Amino acid sequence: MATEEKIKDRTAETQSAKNSANPFLVANFAPVADENIITDLAVTGTIPEELTGRFLRIGPNPSSMPNPKQYHWFLGTGMVHGLRLKGGKAEWYRNNFVLTDNAARDLKRKQLPYPRKTHGGSVNTNVLNIGGELYALVEAGALPMKLDGDLQTTAYSDFNGTLTGAFSAHPRRDPLTGELHVLAYQPGKKYIEYLVVDKSGMSRTAAQISAPHQPMIHDTAITTSFVVVLDLPMTFDLVTAVSGKFPYAWNRKQQPRIGLLPRSGDVGSMRWFEAPSCYVYHIMNAYEDGDKVIVDVVKNSTYFDAGVIRRGITSPTLVRWVLDLRTGKLSETQLAEQSIEFPRLNDSRVGQSYRYGYTAQFTADLAFGSAYKHDLLSGETFEHNFGAGRATMEPVFVAKANGKAEDDGWLLSYVYDQNTNRSDVVILDTQDFEGEPVATIHLPVRVPFGFHGNWVADCDLNAP
Ligand SMILES: [Fe+2]
Repeated sequence: MATEEKIKDRTAETQSAKNSANPFLVANFAPVADENIITDLAVTGTIPEELTGRFLRIGPNPSSMPNPKQYHWFLGTGMVHGLRLKGGKAEWYRNNFVLTDNAARDLKRKQLPYPRKTHGGSVNTNVLNIGGELYALVEAGALPMKLDGDLQTTAYSDFNGTLTGAFSAHPRRDPLTGELHVLAYQPGKKYIEYLVVDKSGMSRTAAQISAPHQPMIHDTAITTSFVVVLDLPMTFDLVTAVSGKFPYAWNRKQQPRIGLLPRSGDVGSMRWFEAPSCYVYHIMNAYEDGDKVIVDVVKNSTYFDAGVIRRGITSPTLVRWVLDLRTGKLSETQLAEQSIEFPRLNDSRVGQSYRYGYTAQFTADLAFGSAYKHDLLSGETFEHNFGAGRATMEPVFVAKANGKAEDDGWLLSYVYDQNTNRSDVVILDTQDFEGEPVATIHLPVRVPFGFHGNWVADCDLNAP
């Protein structure tokens, strides 16, 4: 099928989805039908030559039409998108379904091997390299799925038998050790597991934290000494689970708290702090400052506490929590006034003091838009507006090889253009944040709004 015809198809698909009452099935939340390999990519500007690798992104893309009365964004079949850059050239864009059992059934394909039985639920939340291999990840129980360099799913994985329970979509890589630190949970298990994955991709359970109320824990952070445990009032809800809806809900009875678990896994020495009533999906970073621990989070005043589909999404904002180890108290200051989500930073600063963070505009009415650069020292926020009708998803910082300053790098993001119903990959110079992009790679297709992505350089893969 010619490219122009394909675009027409997708436009029709999006228009028809607009008839749906479900906001997660319309406009650029709507799924795309095709898997593509596209090699003739138009480029504006100059792609930096040292960017040799894959810019990956994942999000929900239902492989069969879900019930629009129940479907939530978090539940859709995963689809991985990737742009291959090499030596200043854009070699290809590809997108493939993450072939879980449910997806294989919908698409009438052969189910992939798995080392132990897992539920067939979607794997749709993050895509990154672990032990030199590519994995698609999700929280709450489904096993990681391994991908090849062409973004085809090859198998379920339990990391060579070392992962005995659930994993998470948000492992934190300690840049000083290369280890991943993970908090995992799943429905029915009344504990949170703290896992450490070594550089070769082998997992070990370092601690189990009792949690009979079964909280949903999406993200974690590390400092030199601690792992940050967000125990906030969104808990497993059997009533919504059996009805087929998203199985976690706001729980007013649950006291919100944040824990600092020693990285040794010594649960007996854990410190708990009373937290504001809120829900946090994402932590930008955490670090120690004397007898204080700083945790920068994206705070939702509530979540999943009303309605069926949106259920009370609020305008999330970036705030700093200071945990005082002497007094045992938490204090909060707002770091930026914008409504934002999907915080990132220079990954070489994970767990250490840092100055710069990056976010995507994200509002209560599910609108993406500009990218932001937050200078946490000066308090300034810089905006990159991609133009009318153009909206970024989570922006990803990539440090320059010889960069000296923390913000000496590029910001890569998939940007949807509602004027053309296509997406671009835009590369900004983060020290000229508000300036013209360094390069824009034009995709002849659209990339639906999704969750997370990462730049995976060839040098970080076993078989690039
Ligand atoms: Fe996330």
